[in-house]
Amino acid sequence: MSARLGTGAAPGKVILFGEHAVVYGQPAVAAAMSTGLGATVEPASGAPALRIPSWGRGGLEVRAGEAGPSSIARGFTRALEVLGLAGEPLAVTIEGDLPLGVGLGSSAAFAVSLLRALADYRAVPLGGAALLAAAAEVETVFHGTPSGLDHTVVTRGGCLRFARGETPAFRPVRLARPLPAVIAWSPREGSTRDAVEGLRARRDALPAAYDGLFAAMGAVAEAGVAALEAGDLATVGRLFDLNHGYLNACGVSSLANETMVALARRHGAVGAKLTGAGLGGAIIALCPDDAEGVATALVDAGFRAIVSRIG
Ligand code: PMV
Repeated sequence: MSARLGTGAAPGKVILFGEHAVVYGQPAVAAAMSTGLGATVEPASGAPALRIPSWGRGGLEVRAGEAGPSSIARGFTRALEVLGLAGEPLAVTIEGDLPLGVGLGSSAAFAVSLLRALADYRAVPLGGAALLAAAAEVETVFHGTPSGLDHTVVTRGGCLRFARGETPAFRPVRLARPLPAVIAWSPREGSTRDAVEGLRARRDALPAAYDGLFAAMGAVAEAGVAALEAGDLATVGRLFDLNHGYLNACGVSSLANETMVALARRHGAVGAKLTGAGLGGAIIALCPDDAEGVATALVDAGFRAIVSRIG
């Protein structure tokens, strides 16, 4: 048994442009947050144990191989197998401000921070394509067939443009400067799958109408890449607002999403949109002037909010 500690970290992610439209072949843009998760591995006794104090009510604690529906336990078991550490007497603690299940890449950050810490503990190198493949395996436990967007952004960091079916599917977007943002969230009213399947049914009933919306979101994403690379925050903000309007038209927004977006704009955000699958969950507001003031207004209204630099 190793006496050393292993550590690993990974950021959360936000989708800046193109969620949902990306399912229909349009480009999307996603970026790493300055907020994330950090994992520490230490020797212990008994079956491998995992503790995440900030998730669940009063913290989550699981043991590897534990029976039951916990995808965290299954993801943990898978990560140990990938690193050849199944059954090792060790304890992992994962800490950080990234909330679980609101569309901020928590499962990818969980997988990548855990894999990095376990590799460090075993003193084996794990990076590049091998880390991406391992993260995809662990994420499959949570999402079935992940698109790769989350764990690619979380592993590589920075900002990436993604389009299914293009080669390469990921291209770096070189931000002229980091984005000063407020991320706020409320519990989800439905899963990513609910949001994607609901939109699929609406689109199949009126394909021409919805495909026009997806194309418009693709154009917003392309204009967004140009504005991000030029450091033109006013235009990025306007494009956030436009993208949010299209997502609302698609039926994936919620009362909480609309309230958070409206509050952020009223308190000085230059643009705001839901981020991720919607039906509740997270929003991103671009706040070059008074990010703290916007975050405080959202918290005062009963939402969770953090100030984060993007990219
Ligand atoms: O699961 P989330 O909230 O990060 O969002 C997924 C993004 C979607 O475009 C809605 C779905 C997908 O597979 O791309």
